Amino acid sequence: MLYNGWEREADIHLSRMGAVEQADGCDVIRPRQALVGGRMAAEVVGLQLRRAECWRSLCREGGRRRWHLPSLHSPYRCCSTGTTYENINRPVIDRIIRVDHAGEYGANRIYAGQMAVLGRTSVGPVIRKMWDQEKGHLKKFNELMVLYRVRPTILLPFWNIAGFMLGAGTALLGKEGAMACTVAVEESISHHYNNQIRTLVEEDPEKYRELLEVIKKFRDEEMEHHDIGLDHDAELAPAYSILKNAIQMGCKAAIFLSERI
Ligand SMILES: [Fe+2]
Ligand SMILES: [Fe+2]
Repeated sequence: MLYNGWEREADIHLSRMGAVEQADGCDVIRPRQALVGGRMAAEVVGLQLRRAECWRSLCREGGRRRWHLPSLHSPYRCCSTGTTYENINRPVIDRIIRVDHAGEYGANRIYAGQMAVLGRTSVGPVIRKMWDQEKGHLKKFNELMVLYRVRPTILLPFWNIAGFMLGAGTALLGKEGAMACTVAVEESISHHYNNQIRTLVEEDPEKYRELLEVIKKFRDEEMEHHDIGLDHDAELAPAYSILKNAIQMGCKAAIFLSERI
C-alpha cells in the first residue's frame, strides 16, 4: 500500500469490519459497510481522499518513483488556504474542530428526534428546514476533520442516543417543547461559536481565515434557528426557563467533554 501511519491503523480496523476488499491489487472501500460505525466516517473519507491522491501521483509519476512520491512525504496541505499541517496551533484547532463536529452531530440527532415525533405536524417543514442546514454543517466539519486530521470525540455514540432522546423527549411536550429545546441549544451553540471566533482572531485571523468564515456563517445560521424557535412559541413551553436552563447545562457539559475526549 502507498500510505502509512494512522491510515494503516485505520485500514486494519476497517479490514476487521470487513469494509476493505482487494480488487486488482488495489484496496477498495465499501462505503456502506464502512460507514456503519459513525466514528469511522471521517477516517473512511480520509482514506478515500488519500488513496485518490496516491493514485493521481502514481499516474503522474508513471510509477517510476513508487516509494519516493513527493506527495507522500510533503507536509499535508489544506488545498484552498495554503495552510500547512505543521504551522497551525494544533491543540487549539484539534479542540475547536472536534467539539464543533460533535455539536453538529448532536444537533442533527436532536432534529432527527424532533422529526420522529412532529414530522407530520404543522411544524414538520420548519424543523425539516433547520435539520437540512444542520446536515450541511455536519458535512463541512466532516471535511474539516479530514483536512486538519482531527479525530472525532469518542463520545459520538453517546451523543447519538442522547441527542435523539433530547429531541424526541422535548417534542413529546408539544411543538412548544421542541422549540424551547431549539432555542436553548442554538443559544448555547451560538455563544460557543462566538468564543471560538474570538480565540481564532486572537491567534491569527489571516491564517485561520477559512475556518473563521465557516464558523461565522454557521453561527449566523444557529442564531436564525434560535429566532425561529422563539417565533414558534418556545416561551410557551411548560416550565420554559427550567427546561431551557437544564438543556443549556447539558450543552455546557457536552462541550467540555467533547473538547477533551
Ligand atoms: Fe449547526
Ligand atoms: Fe442550528
